[in-house]
Amino acid sequence: MGEVPEANLALDFYNTGPAIDVLESKMANLLGKEKALFVQKGMVGQNSALMEYAKRSGSDKIAIHPESLAYQELMGLNAIHLGKKGSAIEAADIAKLPTSIAAVCVELPTRRAGFKLPEWQTLQALKDFSVTHNIPIHFDGARLFESADYWQKSPAEVAALSDSVYVSLYKMLGAAAGGIIAGSEEFIESLKPWRSRFGGDMFTAFPYVLSALWGLEHYLPRISEFNPRAQSLSQLIAQNIGAEALPDPVQTCGFIVELQIDMVTLEQRALALAENERIWLFDRLYDAGEDKSRFEVQVGDALDHWSDTEVVAKLMQLLD
Ligand SMILES: Cc1ncc(COP(=O)(O)O)c(C=O)c1O
Repeated sequence: MGEVPEANLALDFYNTGPAIDVLESKMANLLGKEKALFVQKGMVGQNSALMEYAKRSGSDKIAIHPESLAYQELMGLNAIHLGKKGSAIEAADIAKLPTSIAAVCVELPTRRAGFKLPEWQTLQALKDFSVTHNIPIHFDGARLFESADYWQKSPAEVAALSDSVYVSLYKMLGAAAGGIIAGSEEFIESLKPWRSRFGGDMFTAFPYVLSALWGLEHYLPRISEFNPRAQSLSQLIAQNIGAEALPDPVQTCGFIVELQIDMVTLEQRALALAENERIWLFDRLYDAGEDKSRFEVQVGDALDHWSDTEVVAKLMQLLD
């Protein structure tokens, strides 16, 4: 953080400060939107956007992928499910959408479905639907930069298909935490009271903002390396272990691996490897049933000094 030039700027105070201004304007430029808003959590920013869309439209219904649920208990909003569990949205899903909804929310890529992305034409069809029926689109683009690279589009070209967009600062960009909501100046201004209501006014966000600025300089330019690396690594895992990488082929730098081993045993072995060799192979494990386990792989600079073959050898060590 000390290496970032903005470290010399004054501390921010309740979301106001010069380093936040720099970050927000860099992100707005990258995303081709008038304005961007820093939030300390993506959930805070996106819930704010959905509440504002609901207030404006008079409808309490949002169209959202079936994996998401938070809107209901906290905000009293209702969902129309868009797309099928385990898949990215398809053209047929758009045709089924009702026209009396406050907003359509699309996650890019759909993480729980295995980081799957819709076809570019599907997103364009969604934009046509949105313009025809005057229904705003919000992208949950936690991993928008990686998605843009897959389609060979600029982040701004992707964001142009939405009215508002969220990008995570701590995933590919490696910040300590936080996210950005970008949209029209008028819409972003209207989110500030919501951000405050959701507990989004931190006394200072300086360390988060500096780490995000560092990530923009150092990680953003490397996404076009990380995405193909995820493809080669996932293919080698599939060839050697027969593991399932979803989707096939992998589209961004994140993918899911499924191994034929129960979760408890795999976790014990992974922790032993961490203790003995100081190697951390994956984070959270998911029980995939029938004595199978799943975990996510996110290709980034942690793999700089590893070959694909070395990673696969370590995974196979866990299975032996
Ligand atoms: C697709 C997606 N959207 C939103 C979020 C929420 O971000 P935050 O942890 O900043 O609330 C996550 C977090 O994992 C995510 O994967």
